[in-house]
Amino acid sequence: MGNNLIPLRIAGVGYSVPDAVITNDDLTKLYDTSDEWIYSRTGIKERRVVSGEENAIDLGFAAAKNALEKAKMAPEDIDLIIAASSAPPDLYPAIACHIQARLGISTQVPAFDITAACTGLIYALSIAKAYIASGMYKNILLVATDNNSRLVNWEDRGTSILFGDGAGAMVVTASDDGVDDVIAIDIKSDGSIGDLIELSFDGKNCPLVEQYEPKPQGIRMNGRGVYTFVAKVLPHYVENLIANAGMKAEDIDYLIPHQANIRIIQAVQERLGYSDDKVVTNIKYYGNTSAASIPLALAESVEKGKVKLGTTAVLCGFGAGMTWGGAIVRLREGIC
Ligand code: ACO
Repeated sequence: MGNNLIPLRIAGVGYSVPDAVITNDDLTKLYDTSDEWIYSRTGIKERRVVSGEENAIDLGFAAAKNALEKAKMAPEDIDLIIAASSAPPDLYPAIACHIQARLGISTQVPAFDITAACTGLIYALSIAKAYIASGMYKNILLVATDNNSRLVNWEDRGTSILFGDGAGAMVVTASDDGVDDVIAIDIKSDGSIGDLIELSFDGKNCPLVEQYEPKPQGIRMNGRGVYTFVAKVLPHYVENLIANAGMKAEDIDYLIPHQANIRIIQAVQERLGYSDDKVVTNIKYYGNTSAASIPLALAESVEKGKVKLGTTAVLCGFGAGMTWGGAIVRLREGIC
């Protein structure tokens, strides 16, 4: 971006996960599987799931409050809210509007959702960067939240082993010291292979026109196809993102990837030549939390001291669409 554009500062990050835990052993009560099968192929041991009335809006609200606290900002400081979700609990109102109301932001700030599946946070950050750069908005709340446990088919052992629920949030603002915390950002999609992961929202046609034919419900995924596509594209893509920013892999302190499959994470890690201490993984405890995955991994790893601040990280994600994207970011002191 040109020199007259306003730089962005990441002011705060936060996260929230539900309390209920489902282990791999628990899943053996649902279908023929084993902890060994799941863990060796995915890196997942357990996942969190919502219960009762709890849903992705509650998780997103908690993560948003957490990120605002870290950013030392009040809800009324926010002038735009963007929520990213693979499958919002309501198609409308948007999650962002729910969160606006719960935060008590009564001013007429815009709030909207985007759908880019597990790449949602990178897409939202890219949108926020453009708004801040242009001067149109100054303080933007990004919330990435999903409750996949309500949308998987719990009879399908190929998909329901993978997903968990959670939320991550980020507050970004106009930087007042000339330093841009988004060193590079890029987003991509390829709709021609959209059938690799699908979640239909099937309405009913008017009975005067035709009889309603119910379609299969829940997330449908060609797991092998997703794996093959991502393992081929992502490592090279992240390498190029870094090179195009005029950097080398060793210039970046951490890799914070989407937590979908430990073997895909390891493929990116190997391509960058990173040791394990440079790679954030929490898939073992949360599974794939879709849009929440990257900000949850970021906020939790900073909170737990695995990721030190005053550093840089490369974020990368992929998901339904197919979408994928990456960002190289500065992690300043005080964001968490
Ligand atoms: N337990 C035991 N056996 C199983 C299980 C299970 N949970 N699931 C499938 N199997 C069996 C299959 O039935 C099959 O048996 P068969 O050979 O007798 O037919 C065999 O295991 C192999 O099945 P595959 O689906 O080919 O297994 P694969 O090695 O590909 O692993 C997995 C499946 C783990 C899903 C893998 O393909 C994967 O991780 N893919 C990537 C998924 C992903 O990252 N999705 C991102 C979604 S992001 C978003 O936007 C929502």
